[in-house]
Amino acid sequence: MKVELYHASKYGNGAQAAEEFRKLMTTRGHSVEVHNIDEAKPKEIPQADLYVFGSPTRLGKPIGGMRHFLKKVELPSGTKYAIFATYLGAKPDNKTGKMPTTDELANWQRSIPIMNEILTSKGMVKVAEMPLFVVEMKGPLEEGWQKKVEDFVAEILSSSKLH
Ligand SMILES: Cc1cc2nc3c(=O)[nH]c(=O)nc-3n(C[C@H](O)[C@H](O)[C@H](O)COP(=O)(O)O)c2cc1C
Repeated sequence: MKVELYHASKYGNGAQAAEEFRKLMTTRGHSVEVHNIDEAKPKEIPQADLYVFGSPTRLGKPIGGMRHFLKKVELPSGTKYAIFATYLGAKPDNKTGKMPTTDELANWQRSIPIMNEILTSKGMVKVAEMPLFVVEMKGPLEEGWQKKVEDFVAEILSSSKLH
């Protein structure tokens, strides 16, 4: 399978996940080209069997550059995609010591739903999604992230949508 992956990592955590994804897919006989969106043009995306998009989160949403990139992407209806986002892991409030509520977290972590909305509105079909968490704003990724990438790869490879 030929995969094109586009990410918008600023501090390198998403890029690290993308590299792990590439490595795992390659050992399973698939090819993955990894691009940072700052060095790619949304209207010049090569043909692939699957597209993967990954974004960091800003104020609950995918970073602006990724939202613009996805809006400009022109791929045929039915094109398969998978998605990942990096979020800051939930922590107790500095002052109150309270954990954020489920609603507060959902509001702070909308990157994946927003990216899905943009892509499904173009008729694209989701194969898998993966939320990842960083310990601090700039990283590192929370322990166990490699297993999540492995599961993401397994979900993609076993998807009936790609066969
Ligand atoms: C200005 C700013 C706003 C942020 N807002 C959020 C947010 O609303 N929700 C969240 O989960 N993470 C937020 N983060 C943390 C980012 O998700 C984190 O920096 C990013 O996932 C790291 O990925 P990267 O290393 O690939 O850039 C914010 C970070 C910055 C710098």
